[in-house]
Amino acid sequence: MVYSEKVIDHAQNPRNVGFIEDADGMGTCGDPSCGDFAIVTIRVRDGQITNCRFLVRGCSAAIATCSVLTEMARNKSLREAQEITDAAVTAALDGLPPEKQHCSNLAATALHAAIEDYRKRHRVDLHDWRTPYLGSKR
Ligand code: FES
Repeated sequence: MVYSEKVIDHAQNPRNVGFIEDADGMGTCGDPSCGDFAIVTIRVRDGQITNCRFLVRGCSAAIATCSVLTEMARNKSLREAQEITDAAVTAALDGLPPEKQHCSNLAATALHAAIEDYRKRHRVDLHDWRTPYLGSKR
C-alpha cells in the first residue's frame, strides 16, 4: 500500500485537531464503542464556517482525511461545505489506496452531521434561497 505525500503529511502533521467547546454544530461518524470514530465541530458566523476541528480514532488515512477536510471546510459557506464529498476529500489528498477509500467517509459524514446539527439548532434551511443573504440571523 502506497500513500501519497499529502496523506503522509496530513497524517503526521494533522491540522485543526481538537474540539470546539461551545461549537455551533457537532457531528459524528462511526461507533466509539467498537471501532473507527470521528467528531467534527464547527463555528459558524454569518452562514460561513469560520472554524472546524476534528478528533478521530482510526488509521492514518482517517487522520489525513479529517485533517484535509477541516482545511476544505474553513471559510466555506454552509451550502458549499455541505457539498464536500468523500471523493473531493480523497482527491484533495491526491487519492487513497483502494483498500483505504472507506476511511474518507468518516470525515465528510461527520462534517455533514455537524452542519445538520447547526441547521437544526438555528433552523436554517440550506435549500432556502434566502439563506445566503440572511445567514444565521433569521
Ligand atoms: Fe479504519 Fe481507516 S479508519 S481502516
